[in-house]
Amino acid sequence: MASSHLSGSSSSSSRHCRVVSSSQQQQQRFRNSRGPGRSSWAPPWVAMAKAREASEFLAGERVANLKDGAAVDGPDLSVTVNGIKFPNPFVIGSGPPGTNYAVMKKAFDEGWGGVICKTISLDAGAVHNVTPRYAKLKAHDNKQVLGWQNIELISDRPTEVMLAELKQLKEEYPDRVLIASLMEEYNKDRWDELIGRTIETGVDALEINFSCPHGMPERRMGAAMGQDCELLQDVTKWIADASTIPVWAKMTPNDINITSPGRVSLDNGIDGLAAINTIMSVMGINLKTLRPEPSVEGYSTPGGYSAAAVRPIALAKCMSLAKMIRDEYPGRSLSGIGGVETGKDAAEFLLIGADTVQVCTGVMLHGYPLIKTLCGGLQEFMEEHDFKSIDEFKGAALPYFTTHAELYRMQEEAIAAKKAAKVGLKNDAEWTGDGFQAETDSMVSNN
Ligand SMILES: Cc1cc2nc3c(=O)[nH]c(=O)nc-3n(C[C@H](O)[C@H](O)[C@H](O)COP(=O)(O)O)c2cc1C
Repeated sequence: MASSHLSGSSSSSSRHCRVVSSSQQQQQRFRNSRGPGRSSWAPPWVAMAKAREASEFLAGERVANLKDGAAVDGPDLSVTVNGIKFPNPFVIGSGPPGTNYAVMKKAFDEGWGGVICKTISLDAGAVHNVTPRYAKLKAHDNKQVLGWQNIELISDRPTEVMLAELKQLKEEYPDRVLIASLMEEYNKDRWDELIGRTIETGVDALEINFSCPHGMPERRMGAAMGQDCELLQDVTKWIADASTIPVWAKMTPNDINITSPGRVSLDNGIDGLAAINTIMSVMGINLKTLRPEPSVEGYSTPGGYSAAAVRPIALAKCMSLAKMIRDEYPGRSLSGIGGVETGKDAAEFLLIGADTVQVCTGVMLHGYPLIKTLCGGLQEFMEEHDFKSIDEFKGAALPYFTTHAELYRMQEEAIAAKKAAKVGLKNDAEWTGDGFQAETDSMVSNN
């Protein structure tokens, strides 16, 4: 959507960052200027601005040579997770890049290792989206998008249409990994029905959205369910019992110690965790209109924050989950999500212990061909360290996280060791006949 630097309605929120968003006026102009029957048409400056941002940001990134998602040359990028082989670890995260057949097909054609569709529920008729629904936090240079807020709900497309499209994709791409994202109410029959009908499409796995921070809390769905371990206790059991294919539970970073819902899910037989979904946010206040963004009829509502700015938070949450999986649930998996735009960003999630890495906002900013630079950047990192496969370095950074108290203890120990190994003699009485030359040398400054 249009950003305010193009329309002159930006507001500044700090010395370093600018909050920009689509205004209603821009939306109206945009709608008025749409060509008849061309629903995907957008003013040329939108495409030009996006292409410029994307090409500048990704300039210099290595591009991988992929066939059906697998690296044709260089280090092997394939991973096997919960028995499913992914040609590369990059998975389209649930959201706009997995909304319908056309975009998911595009993802497979470009080489994405797997695709997770936009979250489906049984009653799409109850999902009412608004527009504008996104707002950006841009860097001071107005080029890089640091943060992204959405107030988008789950899929508003009829369940039977989404399921038919998943079936068609799986028939056309039998060897590629397709995962259905699901969300439902606290009702066993509804979960049984949704899971049964979804599995019939032939998808490889399910990801359960226990984590969308906005929309439908009144139906106790999404994060409202994922933050309530009592509800999760029942629901994860129903899901694990109903599913004959692997299931990942997608965790919220909001208002809960993320290991608590993770532990409930894994205890009840869920195969893997995915983290993070978006972080509850208010993108900013428009200093001209004095109204919050994104503005719908002059009003707004808190939304979900994503993109580069959330990566450090996502890494911290994934680190906690990865430690728990390593220590208590060996064999279960972790899908890392949050602010990944380059292969090196992804390498950090893998080093922390993730098995796969999901990308959502990155695709909205840079398009589906991003997969080529994600794989290229990851291969470049692997070559620098002479890693031949992802298994060789998965989780390698995890042992180096400890408590602050332990950091202090180790530092005191190191200082004491340095003092003990101090060079030179304290006084003339310390000279000995045997070590005389070494003792002399220990007090020379330019050895
Ligand atoms: C516009 C938008 C819509 C999203 N819709 C969904 C959704 O339907 N289901 C879901 O599980 N996550 C959804 N997400 C969350 C993403 O899958 C992802 O967890 C989050 O955005 C962080 O990753 P990112 O920084 O790569 O976007 C959405 C994110 C965005 C930006």
